[in-house]
Amino acid sequence: MSNRYAVILAAGQGTRMKSKLYKVLHPVCGKPMVEHVLDQVKAAEMSEVVTVVGHGAELVQSKLEGRSEFVLQKEQLGTAHAVMQAKDRLHDKDGITLVVCGDTPLITAETMSSLIQHHEEQQAKATILTAHEEDPTGYGRIIRDETGLVKRIVEHKDASEEERAVQEVNTGTYCFDNRALFEALEKVGNDNVQGEYYLPDVIEILQTEGETVAAYQTASSDETLGVNDRVALARAEKLMQARINEKHMRNGVTFIDPASTYIGSEAVIGRDTIVYPGTVIEGATVIGEDCIIGPNTEIKNSTIADQTVIKQSVVHDSEVGSHVAIGPFAHIRPQSAISDEVKIGNFVEIKKTQFGKGSKASHLSYIGDAEVGAGVNLGCGSITVNYDGKNKHLTKIEDDAFIGCNSNLIAPVTIGKGAYVAAGSTINKDVPGEALSIARARQENKEGYARKIHTKN
Ligand code: UD1
Ligand code: MG
Repeated sequence: MSNRYAVILAAGQGTRMKSKLYKVLHPVCGKPMVEHVLDQVKAAEMSEVVTVVGHGAELVQSKLEGRSEFVLQKEQLGTAHAVMQAKDRLHDKDGITLVVCGDTPLITAETMSSLIQHHEEQQAKATILTAHEEDPTGYGRIIRDETGLVKRIVEHKDASEEERAVQEVNTGTYCFDNRALFEALEKVGNDNVQGEYYLPDVIEILQTEGETVAAYQTASSDETLGVNDRVALARAEKLMQARINEKHMRNGVTFIDPASTYIGSEAVIGRDTIVYPGTVIEGATVIGEDCIIGPNTEIKNSTIADQTVIKQSVVHDSEVGSHVAIGPFAHIRPQSAISDEVKIGNFVEIKKTQFGKGSKASHLSYIGDAEVGAGVNLGCGSITVNYDGKNKHLTKIEDDAFIGCNSNLIAPVTIGKGAYVAAGSTINKDVPGEALSIARARQENKEGYARKIHTKN
């Protein structure tokens, strides 16, 4: 096998996106487009990968750091000019160079490999990955001669009416003989509607020099969608979503309605877990087996162990154990660790809290900056008063403590093991283990007083 190099074009601003964010950093299913492309290039086993960066160079580079070499294209003078920036690194090497655009997030390693295989079989100097598009607007068109051989590629803006009718398009992915590529690039001019140095012009240059130029048409035009605006971005999202969901379903996860279930590219979900509609799972989330997730639940960067149920709730940057029940309408905020067999019920907010095994906060509570032991019961309306306006303070609730309804625990404070806090208490001093603490106004009953009030009116 000859050496294989890859060049990823990622220097454009993406004017048509009308965005502050550089085009290739726009996420598709939570991952920047260019990262999808790099992942697939890596999977296709290249000996060297060079990414051309320009607009937002530092940001793009930081996303791909350690997995690619980088060259800077200071001015964006076109795709041929972009590839030229890799000249110093690659031009004197023997082998095959794959060029991929950073705005085709759906392209797969399999298709890249098939393209390379076709290129080798044809012994071509250049092979274009083409696709059939029902609506080819915006793409470069593949112009073939009477015998079917590829002659050149014409950009949409430069094309005649007749050429625009061609539905075979340039997908922006190519395979070249490396030396032939860099020699031909020297000859590319910018005499076209956009005044740019077009990479597709290399095809005509090689063809007129009598070199073999081939085309490999992929059956899946979905894979080769080039994202130039937000309409295409939404299409890419839908297609990627379907691909991700299908992968999970094939792995044994049930989706009640895949079309309304949004799973990020990085998420891992165990077998026999059931995902209900309206669920969004993002970031580095790992969900175990036999869980029930949703409906209408958002989980981000979190780990959920087996057999846990999370309904109509939000969980961010936290760990949740097994056999846990969360929701409906609970909010688990970052840095929380919920142990096994816990119950977090309706309208409960948990933040930066360790919640011990089997403990419960079943209704209407705020528990923040707390360490809750095992077997603790937090009654309805329990509040940790963690913030004094300047600093956050810790509340410790030891194993088997019972916090009565509507209690305020003013931090820093510790409720000892097995202690009992009476309902309606406002606790600002530590409660010793096994103690009963009552911190509320004593009840006074004034006999007959209500009747007096009624007669006054
Ligand atoms: C390009 C192709 C077109 C093809 C389409 C497929 C050219 C001239 N046209 O058009 O034939 O059908 O892709 O999606 O190549 N870039 C740079 N530096 C530059 C210009 C672009 O790095 O100076 C990068 C962009 O960031 C992008 C990629 O190259 O990732 C393609 O550029 P884009 O402007 O999107 O080209 P298209 O108009 O889509
Ligand atoms: Mg494009």
